[in-house]
Amino acid sequence: MKWNYKKDIPYGDISINRIEDNDYLFRTLTIASFIEITSNVYEKNLSVYYRDDASTVQWLEDVWEPEEIQHGESLKKYIETVWPEFDWERHYETFLKNYLPLCTVESLEPTKAKEMIARMVVETGTSTFYKAMATYAEELGEPVLEDLCRKISKDEVYHFEMFEKVFKKHKEEENLSKKEILKVLYDRLKEINNEDVKIAYEALGSDGSYDEYMRQTGTFAKKYYPYKMAAKMFIRPLGLNDNFENVIATTVKPAFKILGI
Ligand SMILES: [Fe+2]
Ligand SMILES: [Fe+2]
Repeated sequence: MKWNYKKDIPYGDISINRIEDNDYLFRTLTIASFIEITSNVYEKNLSVYYRDDASTVQWLEDVWEPEEIQHGESLKKYIETVWPEFDWERHYETFLKNYLPLCTVESLEPTKAKEMIARMVVETGTSTFYKAMATYAEELGEPVLEDLCRKISKDEVYHFEMFEKVFKKHKEEENLSKKEILKVLYDRLKEINNEDVKIAYEALGSDGSYDEYMRQTGTFAKKYYPYKMAAKMFIRPLGLNDNFENVIATTVKPAFKILGI
């Protein structure tokens, strides 16, 4: 791991008064912490699925899982520092009860290359999400959160790149066509506001509805979300050359806005 939240994040320096009333921030960070901290379940499933691919399994176990769990732990500590009245453990239990049944090996894509496309889409989502959060934290004047989100975002970009390497390896073996790649991308795009966020939101036991929260997220995204970065990463599995990738990314960009992410 390139950083360690126990020594690299100065939780004692958080500008608590600038954010403690920010309910949207509280909900969003807590949802992220729930999902991240549960990455061990996903890692187990992926390790079973890629068991013939020893170097990938080793990387998943030694690097990917500890890094994802650290994202969750570092956010949890942030939440407990700013909002100590929130019983994180109790709400997390509710989340787990509803989330675990969705995490099965059967829910993975039908082939190894296709599952890697799905992983790349997820890492596109996380790296751009934390980038948006870092920009937001900067605007709120909370440098500890800004720094934490930048660190996490960088890790997610690195995960994306590693998954891309694994994808390329299996893509050759499976002889995957551009049309097949597009199909996986398209299916994943439709699911981008997916079930896990909704389950995590509901486990918070907030007053407001999930739809209202998603409307707030839409407004947040318009202001802070790095659409161009998302579009470029999203189409990466197609393996286009740089110029063409830029053109297509510009074309795809508005689709993300319509989706309200
Ligand atoms: Fe993460
Ligand atoms: Fe990641």
